[in-house]
Amino acid sequence: MSNILTIPTTILFLAILSLSSACNVDDQKALLAIKNSFPANTLPTWNASKDCCSWDFVQCGSDTGRVVSLQFWGDASTPPSVLNGSIPESVGDLPFLETLKFTGSPGLVGTIPPQLAKLTRLRSLSITNSGISGPIPSFLPQLASLEVLQLSSNKLFGPIPPAIGSLANLSTLDLSSNQLTGSIPSTLHSALLYLSGNKLTGSIPPSFANFSSFSIVHLENNQLTGDASPFFGRTKTISNIVLFNNKLSFDLSGVEYPEETLEYVDMSHNRIYGSISEQILQAASILYFDVSYNQLCGKIPGGGKFAQYQGAKYFAHNKCLCGPPLQACM
Ligand SMILES: *[C@@H]1O[C@H](CO)[C@@H](O)[C@H](O)[C@H]1NC(C)=O
Ligand SMILES: *[C@@H]1O[C@H](CO)[C@@H](O)[C@H](O)[C@H]1NC(C)=O
Ligand SMILES: *[C@@H]1O[C@H](CO)[C@@H](O)[C@H](O)[C@H]1NC(C)=O
Ligand SMILES: *[C@@H]1O[C@H](CO)[C@@H](O)[C@H](O)[C@H]1NC(C)=O
Repeated sequence: MSNILTIPTTILFLAILSLSSACNVDDQKALLAIKNSFPANTLPTWNASKDCCSWDFVQCGSDTGRVVSLQFWGDASTPPSVLNGSIPESVGDLPFLETLKFTGSPGLVGTIPPQLAKLTRLRSLSITNSGISGPIPSFLPQLASLEVLQLSSNKLFGPIPPAIGSLANLSTLDLSSNQLTGSIPSTLHSALLYLSGNKLTGSIPPSFANFSSFSIVHLENNQLTGDASPFFGRTKTISNIVLFNNKLSFDLSGVEYPEETLEYVDMSHNRIYGSISEQILQAASILYFDVSYNQLCGKIPGGGKFAQYQGAKYFAHNKCLCGPPLQACM
């Protein structure tokens, strides 16, 4: 008796299981439209006779069968470096998408399509190492759930839209290695901020002095001027401040260093003047401090963890820095 009951129950259970994990028909339609927007032979495993949740680069929610993740990745030798063409508009027809990634497709060209504005559940958007060009789209601030926005190593140009700073949950903003111009919006506050390798000008916003969110900041290889002290302060929780190869020009003498968290500072190749405060000896976690190629003067603070890790080259090519590891002060 119990066996007779068990068998249909099992069958029913399996039927529900397979139903619930099967790809949603609308999502499959959108995915096939994506495939068909690329040249023939692209994405050969995307075959309508199989559940689209099992296709390469696709992930569905376990209980919904809706596509939640679409991540194309590769390098010169592996798929999908075969993604030649533009980002398909039909990507916007996957309304449950939380993660979207195109990386390592140099043949991916054109601009970021406005249809992506429909993906309001998106938490992570990465388009990197591609031939994508044009401006940073103004619709991005509408994607209110974004936590990670990576658009590095593309051919994007124009300014950084200040409204990106309105994305409350954005913890990583990586726009490095593009051709972005203009100044850094005073609204940006993500913990990880990578804007290196662009053509950014102007000064670091003074309002950054009031933000406690920064943890790792990379602004190297730009044309920034003025004062970098907004990132510093005794009680700040920033760990990495990387600013080399800019035109920063400010008095370092009064700058205080985060005592708990600061690990890595590279301000080399700027026009920074003044001296290095003795207070840096209180920065207990410091591992790297490079101020070479500036216009600094005065005695290099000695002793403590700071001195232990420093070689002469990190202080070389300044105006009149002195003391170990450089020559003695007069
Ligand atoms: C899809 O798979 C079926 C069965 O494996 C095969 O007969 C068919 O040719 C495939 N279609 C495409 C477009 O590759
Ligand atoms: C994409 O472009 C590359 C470089 O031109 C080429 O080698 C490759 O065969 C193309 N792939 C497809 C699927 O068109
Ligand atoms: C931001 O993150 C919080 C905490 O995880 C979450 O409750 C909230 O819904 C998120 N906001 C948006 C717009 O996704
Ligand atoms: C920082 O915040 C204080 C207090 O809210 C304010 O008076 C000051 O103007 C702010 N500084 C900058 C540079 O925005």
